[in-house]
Amino acid sequence: MSKAYVFTRFGGPEVEAFVEQDPPEPGPGQLLVAVRAAGVNPVDWKLRAGKRRPGAPPAEFPEVLGSEVAGVVEAVGAGVDGFAVGDEVFGNPDTGGYAEHTLLPASLTAHKPAGLSFTEAAALPVAAATAYDGVRQLDLPAGATLLITGVGGGVGVAAAQLARHYGVRVVGTASAGKKDFVEALGAVHVPAGRGVAESGVPESGVADLPALADRVRAAAPGGRVDAVFDLVGGEDLAAVASLLPDRRGKLITAAAKETVAELGGAAVARARTSEVLDAVARLAADGVLRPQVTATYPLERADEALRAVEGGHARGKVVIEVGA
Ligand SMILES: NC(=O)c1ccc[n+]([C@@H]2O[C@H](COP(=O)([O-])OP(=O)(O)OC[C@H]3O[C@@H](n4cnc5c(N)ncnc54)[C@H](OP(=O)(O)O)[C@@H]3O)[C@@H](O)[C@H]2O)c1
Repeated sequence: MSKAYVFTRFGGPEVEAFVEQDPPEPGPGQLLVAVRAAGVNPVDWKLRAGKRRPGAPPAEFPEVLGSEVAGVVEAVGAGVDGFAVGDEVFGNPDTGGYAEHTLLPASLTAHKPAGLSFTEAAALPVAAATAYDGVRQLDLPAGATLLITGVGGGVGVAAAQLARHYGVRVVGTASAGKKDFVEALGAVHVPAGRGVAESGVPESGVADLPALADRVRAAAPGGRVDAVFDLVGGEDLAAVASLLPDRRGKLITAAAKETVAELGGAAVARARTSEVLDAVARLAADGVLRPQVTATYPLERADEALRAVEGGHARGKVVIEVGA
């Protein structure tokens, strides 16, 4: 039998549970993988809460939580080329990640570089791949300035590392406690929070802050930003959109896909291919992407791992280690 952490219907944390089930059988194009590590992402709790990806099949309960894993191939389905039993791989599973076994589609799987641990590799398929897609979509020249809102989380850390690698200057919003963490990425830290001009009334801790856009202007080289990669959405996105006179191609978000068009921006166009996973693996092996895994939990404490991300203030990546 194989342990998995599931949700039994749509809802809050109360619908989560451990189950013991037979390991799934790999179908055509799939790999059965013994999971060694599973990354934790905001999408995990959003799916549990009932959000579905466009075109996704209806939920079949129980559904295993998790969208990214690293592990070892135990069986190979029909029609799969390039992978064999015993290979160390990572990717986006078809059947959840918080589990001892899962099925990876070969089309969303890549070989794990030998120099990366399973824990580090499990941090790449969602956050780093989204950062990679977004930074390439913006296609900024060296010397340009990129604002990343929510730079202290999984996607933001990877986006900052990639942008810096391409010679782009990075300004990032994050809570005050992440200042040193953000600066270590080579980014200029802008404290998050609503300033007095936006809140209208003094708020504890942020009442004396200028408005967010003014804070960014004050921190950005030359007082301007050339593009925005948003990972927060809501009022912060609206506030920083005002920094860009022409937003076409220069304002993207992973956090507010449904509403960004109203501001003249676009959602991050996710490629979701093994080529992108290979590319981020190479960048990680070369030390350009340095997965900042700041908290690990054994599978038995998957609930705590998800709460750490669901709280909305994760630092870098949270990863569940299986069999640790
Ligand atoms: N479309 C896709 O394919 C895709 C893929 C990945 C992620 N996403 C979405 O992108 C967003 C970010 O994902 P993630 O994995 O980076 O999340 P995460 O790891 O949970 O990080 C979110 C970060 O935002 C910071 N934050 C929260 N409120 C903030 C604010 N007002 N200003 C500045 N920072 C704030 C948090 O900490 P502090 O407040 O302490 O700074 C935290 O560091 C989520 O909405 C996620 O669902 C979409």
